[in-house]
Amino acid sequence: PLVPTADLVARAAADRGCVAAFNVITLEHAEAVARGAEEAGRPAILQISENAVRYHGGRVGPLAAASAAVAAASDAELSLHLDHVTDPDLLRQAADAGFSSAMFDAGALPYAENVEATAAAATWAHGAGLWLEAELGYVGGKPDAPASAHADGVRTDPEEAVAFVSRTGVDALAVAVGSSHAMTRRTATLDHALIARLRAAVPVPLVLHGSSGVPDEELRAAIHAGMVKINFGTVLNKAFTHALRPIVASEPLPVDPRTYLSPARAAVAATVRELLTTLTGVRP
Ligand code: G3H
Ligand code: ZN
Repeated sequence: PLVPTADLVARAAADRGCVAAFNVITLEHAEAVARGAEEAGRPAILQISENAVRYHGGRVGPLAAASAAVAAASDAELSLHLDHVTDPDLLRQAADAGFSSAMFDAGALPYAENVEATAAAATWAHGAGLWLEAELGYVGGKPDAPASAHADGVRTDPEEAVAFVSRTGVDALAVAVGSSHAMTRRTATLDHALIARLRAAVPVPLVLHGSSGVPDEELRAAIHAGMVKINFGTVLNKAFTHALRPIVASEPLPVDPRTYLSPARAAVAATVRELLTTLTGVRP
């Protein structure tokens, strides 16, 4: 069934566990996440990023409607989240498009501007019944990246995070603790002491972005230290693309897209199932 993101995150936080969020670019991604979640017997968040909306011609409706329909038909509890929104106009379309939550991304802005833009976004989102996540610090690896995740001043400062949450009223906070977006190898090392300090100080659930580059053991430790929402994107696309490569390279060339989309979708489902199984029951 389609459920609200707020419920999945609240339950994960209460259980001292986590809920995983997976990026959806195509219908096949949504179907694969649903399949993987069903097989693992776990809930999950389907998230569509502003980038994916741009890929679909700037229209949020069709992919959101398809993803919501996949979630509604699934045996797994799935929610729909609009990810990395920088355009307030897109945020305003979220509730009508079927999302129960969004992430407003002003993490690349200087602190004062991030506070101002995020507070306005939170006020609007709450008026529309949306749960809102924001970012403080900068999780690098995006095309407009001003710095790496390891540069000075990039990681989230706990005192600043407390002030940020209180001044913006956001429901969850994405923090920069050493992960970076779009890593195709799992070589990131996280600052677990910083995660624990953030967890102790910040009154809302913490979110880890760029989780594709984080090894299983580091993910488990991060959840143990207090991360609640864990976002994966690249690892799914890696599975998708690797699965289809030998098929599109074969002779004679198969022209029906289903010949390569079927194994690509199955590879994503298997990755989702493995990640959900790995992340289950991290905390006692
Ligand atoms: O918001 C999405 C995630 O941060 C995905 O990051 O593609 O590096 O796993 P990733
Ligand atoms: Zn992200």
